[in-house]
Amino acid sequence: MGSIRTKAAIATSTLIKGTDDSRSKARVANMGPKQEWEQFFDGHAPIYMKNVWTKNTVKEIDFILKEFKLEPGSSILDIGCGTGRHSIELAKRGYKVTGVDISSGMLTEAERTAEEAKVRVEWIHANATQFKSKAKFDGAICLCEGAFSLLSSSDQPIKFELAILRNIYAALKPHGKLILNAINGYAKVRKVTQKDVEEGKFDPASNTEVITMDFDTPEGKRSVQVRERGYVPTELIMLFEKAGFRVNHVWGGTAGKWGHRTIDLDEIELMVIAERPERLLQ
Ligand SMILES: C[S@@+](CC[C@H](N)C(=O)[O-])C[C@H]1O[C@@H](n2cnc3c(N)ncnc32)[C@H](O)[C@@H]1O
Repeated sequence: MGSIRTKAAIATSTLIKGTDDSRSKARVANMGPKQEWEQFFDGHAPIYMKNVWTKNTVKEIDFILKEFKLEPGSSILDIGCGTGRHSIELAKRGYKVTGVDISSGMLTEAERTAEEAKVRVEWIHANATQFKSKAKFDGAICLCEGAFSLLSSSDQPIKFELAILRNIYAALKPHGKLILNAINGYAKVRKVTQKDVEEGKFDPASNTEVITMDFDTPEGKRSVQVRERGYVPTELIMLFEKAGFRVNHVWGGTAGKWGHRTIDLDEIELMVIAERPERLLQ
């Protein structure tokens, strides 16, 4: 995902229809009251695909499939699937895909696009911290901060990430790989100031920023305060290992710049490539 501030600016500059009343055909699992990111993405959904970071989908799927080495027909779980751009591209290439997202607005867009593309994807409306899958998948993706890095006011850092990772781990078959993007903690720290700390806009203890997101709804302008957390690679490795994964790589992962390369300090995102081992690591 690009800078949140850019996204908020896009959201406010265009008239957005709210999607609260839309009837998503997605399966619903364990949804409580709407959390802040859910409110934002419900409002932002109709214009999400105008964001610049959504323009690399085909190349991103080429990259993912090279890493996964999975035959068509294999099953892939897309956590925080959004408008389904990766899920749908994978389905077009013959993979069985399940997309999970907290926003019914984003899932409504995903369903419409999949219908237009004449592909079948299973959509599930769920919070990734609570999502439990009965099915076991050959691979999983969590891209462009599909849940990971996006905390609600009630989420506790570390517990939040471990809940998501444990749910993905439990949904994977042994040797199943996970490709995940997370916000680059170095870049976040280099951007904020001591004044931000004093004003409560940045928590240095958890590398978490409080951001106000503005968006339009049929009832008028709305704004919601969200939290976005950055990570350093060693911390990600520890979180993944605690959830049971083996981490194969942590690379720079900013949209449009995916590759087998070291991290740029100022880039937006990191990429973790991890695997569910045959047995639990010691
Ligand atoms: C920036 S979008 C990325 C969407 C998609 N992965 C992509 O690459 O375009 C982040 C998505 O994560 C979803 N999301 C945020 N928090 C979530 C959570 N706790 N559980 C499930 N989905 C979540 C949002 O609704 C949104 O669709």
